[in-house]
Amino acid sequence: MARGPDNAPIWATLVVLASMGTAVTLATKPGIVARISQKGLDFACQQGVTVLQKQLQKIRVPDLSGRFKVKHIGKVHYSVYSITIVRFQLPSPQIRLQPGVGLKLSINSASVQVKGRCKARKRFIKASGKFDLSLDGISISADLKLGSDPTSGHITIACSSCSSHINSVHLRFKKSIVGWLIQLFRKKINSILREKINSQICKIVTKSVSSKLQPYIQTLPVTAKVDAVAGIDYHLVAPLTATADNLDGQLKGEFFRLAHRSPPPFSPPEMAFPPDHDRMVYMGISDYFFNTAGLVYYEAGVLKMTINNHMISRKSKFELTTKFLGTFLPEVARRFPNMKVQFLVSVSAPPYLTTRPSGFAFSPALEAQAFAVLPNSSLASLFLLGMSTNASLKVGVQDSRLIGELNVGKLALELKHSNIGFFPVKLLQDIMNYIVPIVVLPKVNEKLQRGFSLPMPAQIQLSNLRLLTQQNFLLLGADVHSF
Ligand SMILES: *[C@@H]1O[C@H](CO)[C@@H](O)[C@H](O)[C@H]1NC(C)=O
Ligand SMILES: *[C@@H]1O[C@H](CO)[C@@H](O)[C@H](O)[C@H]1NC(C)=O
Repeated sequence: MARGPDNAPIWATLVVLASMGTAVTLATKPGIVARISQKGLDFACQQGVTVLQKQLQKIRVPDLSGRFKVKHIGKVHYSVYSITIVRFQLPSPQIRLQPGVGLKLSINSASVQVKGRCKARKRFIKASGKFDLSLDGISISADLKLGSDPTSGHITIACSSCSSHINSVHLRFKKSIVGWLIQLFRKKINSILREKINSQICKIVTKSVSSKLQPYIQTLPVTAKVDAVAGIDYHLVAPLTATADNLDGQLKGEFFRLAHRSPPPFSPPEMAFPPDHDRMVYMGISDYFFNTAGLVYYEAGVLKMTINNHMISRKSKFELTTKFLGTFLPEVARRFPNMKVQFLVSVSAPPYLTTRPSGFAFSPALEAQAFAVLPNSSLASLFLLGMSTNASLKVGVQDSRLIGELNVGKLALELKHSNIGFFPVKLLQDIMNYIVPIVVLPKVNEKLQRGFSLPMPAQIQLSNLRLLTQQNFLLLGADVHSF
């Protein structure tokens, strides 16, 4: 394949690969970016080390016995038994970001208290006793490699390297007949136990990462079912990235229809996070997330509501009857005397919102189809109104769910079609100003108050929340605590 100085074909391949790489990156832009700051890692570290400490306290050192050669005496038989870890202390653990690699766990000046018994025998000379051993200045350093499982979309974490070192050992024999014989192999006990315990530290660190930390991290949902219509896809679209200040996860952040999933005709926007580190976690929720929600519910045909007369408060001045409409639209009363009227209010295009530093811009396009209800219950179409409004949206977080509250502004009406002849739409302004905000909106807000679950691992709650609208995304910052 080598072509001497002319390497054109190879270069061409490289260029194609490079541009494919770019295309893949573009195709998998995240709808949500989740960020953990150093402060968040400090919290995670405390939680994780509590678990690790419990595991380290379970270290078992088997009984040891052997022969040991003493000058002028010859071989002495010894055994060390009933060895138990009393306490394993891990002060000041740290997890630091390692850009491009993952995380590094380091623990310095850890210590272990051990107790046990020992005995020695040389023919008829016997000695035995209890001892306390303390191992101090233990340092543990472990690299945690982060990845993602390409099939499940789950985060993976593994201990890719680990080292430990025990700085000093102190052995104390307890009040018992400890003969000179035992004193002779003090050094032996020290070195054996130091080696036995040290050799288990990294095994336990590695095992704790795979058997405790990894399953916990995988409680982060990859998909969440919202209701009978929709689910949310939260799987990772790229491996986690560690920078000097943060650990970032790029999540799909896309609503999809449970019945039929199809890719939305728009893609996630850029999200430029402000340099902010004083909360433990941040989440950038892009317009893509909200707009795939709008699209999914619109396409499922559920963004509509039938308004009947019984839904109108008796106290209001309105009535959904042909008699009432006839007071300003005489043609309705003339053609459909003494009948009920009903409105089908619906969203006429996928609702689309834009997030800006100043807030959300949201102008849903609505329609109201009016019908007379005939005596045999068939519906006779009267007219079709188009309605546009500038809505305002407030968002909040409650119990790890993103919740919302919608408000509609002034309704601009337009007569799209009429079966009862032309009429000025301002005649319907008052009744629509009643139906949309008073009858329809509370139902919408009921749904928005139930909200959507955010991608969070088990047993974690958010506190100290901060919500900011940014260009193309909502930035949520929070501290976390466990319960
Ligand atoms: C109901 O009545 C209307 C008008 O009287 C008629 O046109 C329509 O066919 C009837 N529908 C049914 C289902 O009977
Ligand atoms: C919505 O706001 C825009 C810009 O402020 C304005 O041009 C438009 O008329 C408003 N629409 C309604 C229905 O009030």
